[in-house]
Amino acid sequence: MSVDFTLIEVETIGSTNDECRRRAEEGASHGLVVRADRQTKGRGRRGRTWDSPFGNLYCSLLLRPESSLQSASVLGFIAATALGNSIEPLLPSDRVLQHKWPNDILIDGGKVAGFLMEAETDSAGRPQWIVLGMGVNIANHPGNTPYPATDLTAMGVGIISSRSLLQNFLAAFSPLYEEWQESGFSAIAERWLKRAAGLGEKIEVKLDSGSLFGRFLSLDSDGALMLELPSAEIRRISAGDVFFPAQRLRIAQ
Ligand code: BTN
Repeated sequence: MSVDFTLIEVETIGSTNDECRRRAEEGASHGLVVRADRQTKGRGRRGRTWDSPFGNLYCSLLLRPESSLQSASVLGFIAATALGNSIEPLLPSDRVLQHKWPNDILIDGGKVAGFLMEAETDSAGRPQWIVLGMGVNIANHPGNTPYPATDLTAMGVGIISSRSLLQNFLAAFSPLYEEWQESGFSAIAERWLKRAAGLGEKIEVKLDSGSLFGRFLSLDSDGALMLELPSAEIRRISAGDVFFPAQRLRIAQ
């Protein structure tokens, strides 16, 4: 199934994810996109809030893939790869764009974008709907975050409207979505890994139950992070926050 996008734009909303979900439950079609200029209740991963003043991109995409929820868990990586492909050509050549597990985009180590994926399944565990929310810091970024943040303007990207950036993203996402449906995740995972921050290096992964330290080996076929612990045991991690040792030092200073 390809994606025919239908765009709904509003000035102010609580959360585009909540609005997209409401419309999904009312029967809206695969490919609905909700974009807002500002959110008053923007949500991030792991129960965090997402600061959403005017000037940035806030949007949510409704998808109804014919796959299990487990295989659809890679959609965040597909979307992050598409967003990276849309932003990279806009950057000055000395800036470095990276993916940070699971679905963040970093430029020169600062977070510029994140994704929040939410889903409802039927009794057989198949997704009835998936809402993929995306926030991109274009003109401003929050100061008080657990991880350094930045924005496209600060990184030297010329003026780009949230609407144009969204159009670029959708144009990049559509072929990757089709590739995933036809050929699976592995070739896209290779491209995600080429830009992965901390790959092969020692990282910290914060889980609900505490932190794990180890070497970031790879992604598995569902996008889980494969971490080699100092004991040589390999752990598969499906939810958590990654930190790089240098950042911990900077935060501690
Ligand atoms: C993260 O924590 O990195 C994910 C942030 C996702 C934010 C976007 S903004 C548009 C959509 N609506 C929300 O409430 N959240 C997502």
